[in-house]
Amino acid sequence: MAQTIAVLDFGSQLTQVIARRIRECQVYSKIYHFRTPAAQLREEGVIGLILSGGPQSVYAENAPHPDPEIFKLGVPVLGICYGVQLMGHFLGGKVALSKAREYGRGRLTITHRSKLFAGLPRKLRIWNSHGDKLTKLPPGFTATAESDNSPFAGIEDRKRGFYGIQFHPEVFHTERGVDMIRNFLVRVCGAKQDWTTQDFIAHAVADLRAKVGKSRVLLGLSGGVDSSVAAALLHKAVGRQLTCVFVDNGLLRKDERASVEALYRRNFKIDLRVVDATALFLRRLKGVTEPEQKRKIIGRTFVEVFEKSLKSIGGAEFLGQGTLYPDVIESVSIAGNPASLIKTHHNVGGLPERMKLKLVEPLRALFKDEVRQVGAALGLPKEVVWRQPFPGPGLGVRVMGDITADKLEILRHADAVLQDEMMKSGYYWKVWQSFAVFLPVKTVGVFGDERTYDYVIALRIVESIDAMTADWAPLPHELLQKISSRITNEVRGVSRVVLDISSKPPATIEWE
Ligand code: XMP
Repeated sequence: MAQTIAVLDFGSQLTQVIARRIRECQVYSKIYHFRTPAAQLREEGVIGLILSGGPQSVYAENAPHPDPEIFKLGVPVLGICYGVQLMGHFLGGKVALSKAREYGRGRLTITHRSKLFAGLPRKLRIWNSHGDKLTKLPPGFTATAESDNSPFAGIEDRKRGFYGIQFHPEVFHTERGVDMIRNFLVRVCGAKQDWTTQDFIAHAVADLRAKVGKSRVLLGLSGGVDSSVAAALLHKAVGRQLTCVFVDNGLLRKDERASVEALYRRNFKIDLRVVDATALFLRRLKGVTEPEQKRKIIGRTFVEVFEKSLKSIGGAEFLGQGTLYPDVIESVSIAGNPASLIKTHHNVGGLPERMKLKLVEPLRALFKDEVRQVGAALGLPKEVVWRQPFPGPGLGVRVMGDITADKLEILRHADAVLQDEMMKSGYYWKVWQSFAVFLPVKTVGVFGDERTYDYVIALRIVESIDAMTADWAPLPHELLQKISSRITNEVRGVSRVVLDISSKPPATIEWE
């Protein structure tokens, strides 16, 4: 197994970002609760610790404090922001309470040679976000860098391998921040940088074989990135012991089912069962207009169909799922940490318990970008690995109001035209999502000499980093013009195309 760096989470929104940056340096990182006993960290053989930032003051009544023994483990420690205050507090320095938090850009001047800053220029742009400040160094420490507001922006005790920085190296606004993290990992902790995609695949395949043995594994394939990569990895590990089930709920995009079949059944030779449940889904959705009601019906029907098809396939011991690391990290719940309010996502909720299947989650340790790398290394095409997100309820929440086969057909056609132009222009890869929405509104138009009275299609094309916020993407006029004229010319039943120019918030990305 790869060497591990432990990130102790004190409630910062940026804890996951720290863990990702470490992995970008080819070092394996794991997020631990701030109170994890030092003995456990020793047992797990961690080679270094990073103390994350956090929204609290070290003096606050319920301030998150680590097991003080972590400073006696004999491994290097890097304190970031709140992490520095903790070092000050626990190792004999002084921390001053401050009412105001300091946010935003600052300048760093490196004043002394330090392993942490090796190879960096003397002056750097940095990003601050802190309240309290270190006012007296703990014994054994020296200052290595200063900022506009602090003579202790960088501190270290070289002997013990303790380093502290008052700013955030993990965000892009901090110049060369990743280099500081890499310096800590490689120069201070002596990390071998042994976390690579190929190693991950080799280990995962060996682990999966050991776990699964000769048993059968079932996996629900949605065509999305996570389940696709999970399927490819499981297939590499256990071959024909894996059976994938793809449910056609009638709410898929044009040719979606065919392309999933072509890829997995023909190219990968995976045992793929396609269940056509279109009629059942459309019957259940008939006349339903309320978005959450639609979601509930689609979710419940999916579980029902999936369960039934698994039964018909015959017994299995394992259920494969494409769960990712961010789904399993329990964010530390601390007042002021919005990350703790974000709901976790569930794949096929409730299914394994009811079916008495054991779970295999081969992607459980990975972040999304790592999943894409694994997918590419396993030979999945770019169209799958870099696919835009598509909601579970599919076109069901993109046909406004009640859903009919005719409306779905119009939407499918319009959406296919949009995707075609997005692909041809290359913009498909540059935006977060691009899709068409069917509006059940009829408007007047002219076609040749005739008056028409047809539906409206809205284009929703957004840029985003994590779907929590989003903005409409400013595409070139000529491209929008082409999409619009192709839709009105090629899609029967549509005479008007509108562009959604709302940001999230207040609008959401999907219309329902
Ligand atoms: P909203 O519309 O909330 O969407 O801004 C944020 C992201 O989530 C996707 N989305 C869903 N995904 N089931 C899903 O699996 C859903 O019910 C659902 N609703 C929205 C949406 O496409 C966007 O990427």
